[in-house]
Amino acid sequence: MNILVTGANGQLGTALRREVRGGVGNRYIFSDISSLPGVDTLYLDITDKTAVSLVCESEKVDVVVNCAAYVDVEKAESDLAMASLLNEGGPANLAAVCAERGATLVHISTDYVFGGDIPRPIKESDPVSPTGVYGATKLQGERAVLSSGCRYIIFRTAWLYSPWGKNFVKTMRTLTAQRRSISVVFDQVGSPTYAADLAACIVHVIESGQLDKQGIYHYSNEGVCSWYDFACAIRDIAGNKCDIRPCHSDEYPSKVKRPSYSVLDKTLVKKSFGITIPHWHSSLKACMAQIDKLCK
Ligand SMILES: NC(=O)c1ccc[n+]([C@@H]2O[C@H](COP(=O)([O-])OP(=O)(O)OC[C@H]3O[C@@H](n4cnc5c(N)ncnc54)[C@H](OP(=O)(O)O)[C@@H]3O)[C@@H](O)[C@H]2O)c1
Repeated sequence: MNILVTGANGQLGTALRREVRGGVGNRYIFSDISSLPGVDTLYLDITDKTAVSLVCESEKVDVVVNCAAYVDVEKAESDLAMASLLNEGGPANLAAVCAERGATLVHISTDYVFGGDIPRPIKESDPVSPTGVYGATKLQGERAVLSSGCRYIIFRTAWLYSPWGKNFVKTMRTLTAQRRSISVVFDQVGSPTYAADLAACIVHVIESGQLDKQGIYHYSNEGVCSWYDFACAIRDIAGNKCDIRPCHSDEYPSKVKRPSYSVLDKTLVKKSFGITIPHWHSSLKACMAQIDKLCK
């Protein structure tokens, strides 16, 4: 099969590229609108349906893995048009082209489709209630995929981080090295996701021939922590000495109401695809070892 990865130079796309770099059964084609020095990337803007259709035709694409998205949660609040174009229009184009060709779309969504008002691990079937533009446009993207008639798998993930791009782990690693003290919120609880683990899950589903198990699945690492706990673990693994003060969310002015409890229930993904998921702390260690290696 020919697998087209979109948004391939972002965090998850880069993790996918590394996951398949030794060669696996199928052929992967990596595309993005951005380029990285020395990285072979096909230019493809997912908001351009004609371009999506032409690439899928010329590359004889059987599966699309969509990692492209508008992910800046704060900025999205004042940029509805762009967030909608990318988070709803993009997957709508990919899903329409997949439906036309009989291809399968593996689409990535987010815990932000929920409002954080469910006081237990959130199941795929729980009611959605996004509280901001990012979550609302990602939900519209899911709905566009579902109504297109294409074959699909949607993975909702949360708190994604990796050695690449901008993310909480890299920011905290730097801040706890540079500052004597910082404050981090302790009243938002969730489960971090190492992009390499999600990438391994996606490649497993494709390479083990399980793409016929259509549906929405929740994926994050195992275990639960607050942003404060997560920051302390990052500091400790890095061997930094910074004092981290736990604080409340209302001490940080934000345009978006962020979910206070955002733990995804992973029962379905584990059972359906026969996978085990690493604990967030062991994956954090693996990621930070990788960052150290890249910094040398
Ligand atoms: N990051 C998180 O904490 C988080 C949490 C939950 C769910 N998710 C979801 O996980 C998925 C992957 O997130 P990520 O953190 O890997 O994202 P990312 O690092 O921002 O990567 C997205 C990539 O898509 C590219 N892109 C932007 N517009 C495009 C377009 N029109 N056509 C094609 N590519 C385009 C971006 O290029 P530019 O950099 O040039 O814009 C970037 O290379 C997304 O669906 C996101 O919603 C992320």
